[in-house]
Amino acid sequence: MRVLSGIQPTGRFHWGNYFGAIRQYIDLQGKREDAFYFIANLHALTTVRNRDQLAANTVDAALDLLALGLDPEQATLFVQSDVPEVSELCWLLMTGAPLGLLERCHAYKDKKARGLTADAGLFSYPVLMAADILMYDSDIVPVGEDQVQHIEVCRDLAAAFNHAFGEIFVLPKAKILDTSARVPGIDGEKMSKSYNNTLEVFEEPKALRKKIMRIVTDSRPLEQPKDPESDHLFLLYSLFADDAQRDEMAATYRRGGFGYGQVKKALADLAESYFAEARQRRRDLEGDPARVREILGDGAARARKKAAEVLRRAQSACGVKF
Ligand code: ADP
Ligand code: TRP
Repeated sequence: MRVLSGIQPTGRFHWGNYFGAIRQYIDLQGKREDAFYFIANLHALTTVRNRDQLAANTVDAALDLLALGLDPEQATLFVQSDVPEVSELCWLLMTGAPLGLLERCHAYKDKKARGLTADAGLFSYPVLMAADILMYDSDIVPVGEDQVQHIEVCRDLAAAFNHAFGEIFVLPKAKILDTSARVPGIDGEKMSKSYNNTLEVFEEPKALRKKIMRIVTDSRPLEQPKDPESDHLFLLYSLFADDAQRDEMAATYRRGGFGYGQVKKALADLAESYFAEARQRRRDLEGDPARVREILGDGAARARKKAAEVLRRAQSACGVKF
């Protein structure tokens, strides 16, 4: 049983990425026979068009994931482009990918709806994603809800290839990540790089505190009791609080007579200690780039071994290897 997922290195990870995705991937490691996680730099190239930026983002993503608990003993961590077989498989799948199917995919469709011109990379993004998944005979793909459409495309492409050439690919299943972990940003909307409302996991504590102080709150007077459940500041606090801390904060909200400033300070304190160990691990890793290269090298070697086997199977089935 193999679980596989990828994450794009398009910027520093924020609390939404951590609680909504990364933490849940990491929880799955070691529980399955095999866990493969990769940094999707070929996908990121469709949006990050700066050499140094993309290279730096990729290393940062590796450091962040390892610092946050991805354990190379229990999971295989690699960079997408270190497995060139995936581009080859992408082509084999591309030859049977109906245009209409790709036209319906949301990344391309949304861009087009906004009157922007899309390139072939964005258009065929789901085919590369299908190759990522089929390349390793993946059974389970944990993803956010926004990616479910891409898993469906992957299954369609795999089934069409199997229909034409024999039972070559394993049809994967999506494991939809817990969406109750939808994290609000400092403006109360969904936290996202695109909305410029993020709190980064490894932001310097001082700068992070400043950002937390800027979280938008309503202007109800101090004395007035407030409903914690509908308050995004409380939601953010709950991400880090244990049950007792959360219950106590909820009671404080209901009693009234407190200021949001106090909640923000409590949130900053909790967040700082929550990520303190990871921050230290990240510093240690930053000081040991050879170790990080070694982890990614080992990961790529393990991934390529499986990739070579699957690619050969697909190539001989369709007649390009004989
Ligand atoms: P962004 O919206 O900042 O560009 P991505 O689309 O790169 O983030 O998201 C990477 C992963 O993190 C996805 O699996 C996504 O579901 C998850 N994620 C992103 N933002 C949030 C959020 N605010 N709450 C929960 N999960 C999130
Ligand atoms: N498209 C995914 C995202 O933006 C990242 C990704 C690329 C991926 N290839 C994948 C996720 C394969 C799961 C499996 O979040």
